[in-house]
Amino acid sequence: MSILVTGGAGFIGSNFVLDWLAQSDETVVNLDALTYAGNLANLASLQGDARHVFVQGDIGDRALVDSLLATHRPRAIVHFAAESHVDRSIHGPGAFMKTNVDGTFTLLEAARGYWGTLADTDKTAFRFHHVSTDEVYGSLGPGDPAFTETHPYQPNSPYSASKAASDHLVRAWHHTYELPVLTTNCSNNYGPYHFPEKLIPLMIVNALADKPLPVYGDGQQVRDWLYVGDHCSAIRAVLARGQVGEVYNVGGWNEKPNLEIVQAICALLDELRPDPAGPYARLVTHVKDRPGHDRRYAIDARKIERELGWRPAETFATGIRKTVQWYLDHADWVAQVQSGAYRDWVATNYATR
Ligand code: NAD
Ligand code: TYD
Repeated sequence: MSILVTGGAGFIGSNFVLDWLAQSDETVVNLDALTYAGNLANLASLQGDARHVFVQGDIGDRALVDSLLATHRPRAIVHFAAESHVDRSIHGPGAFMKTNVDGTFTLLEAARGYWGTLADTDKTAFRFHHVSTDEVYGSLGPGDPAFTETHPYQPNSPYSASKAASDHLVRAWHHTYELPVLTTNCSNNYGPYHFPEKLIPLMIVNALADKPLPVYGDGQQVRDWLYVGDHCSAIRAVLARGQVGEVYNVGGWNEKPNLEIVQAICALLDELRPDPAGPYARLVTHVKDRPGHDRRYAIDARKIERELGWRPAETFATGIRKTVQWYLDHADWVAQVQSGAYRDWVATNYATR
């Protein structure tokens, strides 16, 4: 038995592959294009492990996907591969349309072709699990109820629009072709192997380098933060027990404004790696806001709890402590990802703010 994971060298995908193989002997075929966000160092502990088959390639390469499906005959596809960073989608939306929309379309078509060749019992058991985001639902006002699975789609950024499009394709492939799909829409993740272009790892690595901590606008934008290990356990629960064709929202019951997140990171660093120059919060710098910045996301995760018994294991306090400690313990990983290409991005995004 095997599963095909796409994007398994990225932040969440690599955590998922590591988690999966820590709990199961089922082979993971990992298809990843190794864009700037993909990093085989995340999977270094699996070197020489025959249960992990890594294939560098694009989900938009139909011939490659067809041949992987025919060769490995997976019982499921777990689809993480995507362009995932809102700020990058503002600077260059094309790659988001290509991977998130066209790439998901190609993957669905390949899955449909392969699924059609399966014997009846394998056909019934097969799953296409699409990993998506709460950002497809748009932005909430301060008193609005949290997003449920029936909230209207109102994506506001090129990233969220491309993910919304991919969600619609997945839904349609189920409705029209009966492909056995599952979709999870998750809130903001954080944890080990998080590329330091996103808020939490960026603040940790900048603070450790004594650099400004760039808070967009007033820093009162609210996100619901979930420890990545909890997202992995939610995906495993949905894959194992989710109802075909259903959508499950996944969240941490942990809404916080960005400034509070940054202050929590500073306080932990003050405790774990005090800076003789003074508290890290002195580095907080308000910069020009993101265009079209969504003000608030919040997830109502009652459906996955009620139907599948899933709840996050970490609180924000335990998850952020583990995360900060991980970055302190993995200075080599941080140095490796801060390559020339990373420096180019930092210059592009922050020079004019
Ligand atoms: P990431 O950017 O860290 O990783 C994406 C991975 O996909 C990388 O390894 C990259 O090399 C690979 N990839 C990109 N284009 C590809 C292509 N055309 N073919 C094959 N591989 C390709 O992203 P992440 O944060 O790990 O997010 C994974 C998934 O989870 C995405 O679909 C994202 O929309 C979703 N998601 C992320 C979050 C979050 O907070 N990070 C929250 C909810 C949902
Ligand atoms: P991010 O991690 O990019 O995730 P998303 O935009 O998908 O929610 O950003 C999280 C929040 O942090 C978002 O409101 C934007 C804000 N932010 C900053 O204030 N400064 C930064 O340098 C970054 C990268 C994000």
